[in-house]
Amino acid sequence: MPPINKIMNFRSDNEAPINLQILEAINEANQGFEESYGYDQYSEQFTTQCQQLFQAWCEVLPLTTGTAANSIAMALSCPPYGAILCHEDAHLNRDECGAPEFYTAGAKIIPLSGKHGKIDINQLANFLANSGVHGEHESMPATISLTQCTESGTVYSLEELKAIKAIKEQYGLALHMDGARFANALSTLQCSPAAATWQAGIDLLSFGATKNGAMMAEALIVFNTKYTQQIKRLRKRAGHLISKMRFVSAQLVRYLENDLWLNMAAHANSQAQLFKNKTQGKVKLLYPVDANEVFCQLPMALIESLQQQGFKFHIWPGYNDVIRLVFSHATQQSDTEQLINAVTQYEQ
Ligand SMILES: Cc1ncc(COP(=O)(O)O)c(C=O)c1O
Repeated sequence: MPPINKIMNFRSDNEAPINLQILEAINEANQGFEESYGYDQYSEQFTTQCQQLFQAWCEVLPLTTGTAANSIAMALSCPPYGAILCHEDAHLNRDECGAPEFYTAGAKIIPLSGKHGKIDINQLANFLANSGVHGEHESMPATISLTQCTESGTVYSLEELKAIKAIKEQYGLALHMDGARFANALSTLQCSPAAATWQAGIDLLSFGATKNGAMMAEALIVFNTKYTQQIKRLRKRAGHLISKMRFVSAQLVRYLENDLWLNMAAHANSQAQLFKNKTQGKVKLLYPVDANEVFCQLPMALIESLQQQGFKFHIWPGYNDVIRLVFSHATQQSDTEQLINAVTQYEQ
């Protein structure tokens, strides 16, 4: 019987345990000595795997945090006097304590709005059409960053990505994808990794694995040689050249093997769908449930009752009666079912 604080947890996929196969991969990599700073067999293997997976050349940096991946991506694509356009809720705008500004030596983040956590495409086009009118007084847009899945748990469709690609090409900008939950998005899109990234105009991808079963393992994947200059020095200057990188890379190698990453994401997404389908009419959803997160508005008394029954979740900042439920690779279906029962059996 797991301890009470380990179950019925819908707070965050960051709180989920490590997948046992990935843990085993760390153990297997722990055989004797191995070259340091990324010149180990696992780091090389992971790069090869990424090139096969994405069917393209790419430069790959294993990293330990998503903030580092996003911030190095910004430093590679946006000069200090440039601007980064993203959704106002984007992690790099709200939750990285100025790291992208710091790593770029002062680039300006320009937040845009948009429904369901997605950049409003008309607003983006309008903003760019009117950029430059203030001459050298203005930071010129250099990078568009979008989050896939978004901070609202939604997924940009391939059509939406195509529209953003057309805009980025029109203005010659870099396009970055914060893929902290890329596996969940891909599982929803049901397309190839190539179609969801470089074929959709993505130049730089923050490829997350930590939320989906790894332990401190992320990667920055760059598809466009225009944005790889001094990439290794930038990583070092950022303090992210990991001496024992083999233990990060060994996780990433195992993560991709036998579709482990996609299977884990599919499980997480299926639990969110189960919750959504079985509670229809009982909860008010704030956003479409596209992947592994559900944002819902509930009576305050029900929220309190769920807390008393031991369910863990976040009350969403800015609201009293909105909760975020995150389903992960480790969510037990019995926990999801208990939550569904608690919600559906509630009488006002
Ligand atoms: C959308 C998104 N991007 C990036 C991150 C990466 O964050 P960290 O630096 O904590 O690994 C997170 C973590 O919650 C996230 O939700």
